[in-house]
Amino acid sequence: MTNPQQMMADLAWQIECGADEAIGEEAGFLSWKGLTAKTRLQAEESRRDEPALAAPSAPPPRAVVSIVPPVAAPLPAEARPRVAAQTLEELREEVSRFEGCALRATAMNLVFADGNPASPVMFIGEAPGEEEDRQGKPFVGVSGQLFDRMLAAAGIARSGIYISNILFWRPPGNRTPTDAEIASCIPFVERHIALIKPKVLVLLGGVAAKTLLQTKEGITRLHGRWTTYSPPPESGVDAALPCLPLYHPAYLLRQASAKRQAWNDILLLKKHLTDNNILINNE
Ligand code: URA
Repeated sequence: MTNPQQMMADLAWQIECGADEAIGEEAGFLSWKGLTAKTRLQAEESRRDEPALAAPSAPPPRAVVSIVPPVAAPLPAEARPRVAAQTLEELREEVSRFEGCALRATAMNLVFADGNPASPVMFIGEAPGEEEDRQGKPFVGVSGQLFDRMLAAAGIARSGIYISNILFWRPPGNRTPTDAEIASCIPFVERHIALIKPKVLVLLGGVAAKTLLQTKEGITRLHGRWTTYSPPPESGVDAALPCLPLYHPAYLLRQASAKRQAWNDILLLKKHLTDNNILINNE
């Protein structure tokens, strides 16, 4: 049950995003005036004109997100780690034994996933940060707290979704992951998606979006646009999945001006779930 303090924090976040009107049945689910076709169009226009991500004016918080994410080239077939896991437990075990990613040597813990494995919605971020490394759980640090607030504002409990990252270990000092690190983890991520079988895949930030969509387009262009994730045949997923890239919460911590667009994007996710009768078990 959400406590009054939490509700006030959620409300403050929505107001910061420009929300000014109650819509829908759920308490606390607001919209900003003009989620109308016209404003939506204007938002699309302004996004098209957006400059490249500005360098942060203040030192970034201790949260992971790359400003200029790489696009990891897929490994040649013979160099790809073979993933044998047929269940989630086997996958976790296999990742924990995997020695092909040098990050495991510097990380404290493996950060595999969190949330409900039966959820219809799977989120994928970039890589664990300091707090995630300490706890062995994704999105539990500062950006994770913002992420939880964003979900709560849309009436989605963190316990109702499933979340993981492209990398299973923290890059030292939260540095940008290298192509080789990303490429070594990808076969596991693909199997992870195949085992969870979500109805919707949400990619948090540029690294996740560029890697899984195999595109060079940046997150400023990709966010809030529905697309499809087409899994490689060896991953075992047989159909393309609806996929929504979103700004990474760590980016929103630095770039408060993007919060309005981020809120608009969350509303798109919420609408898709409602329109397609995709229920998230919130408890
Ligand atoms: N940023 C991420 O991309 N993942 C985490 O788990 C934490 C911060």
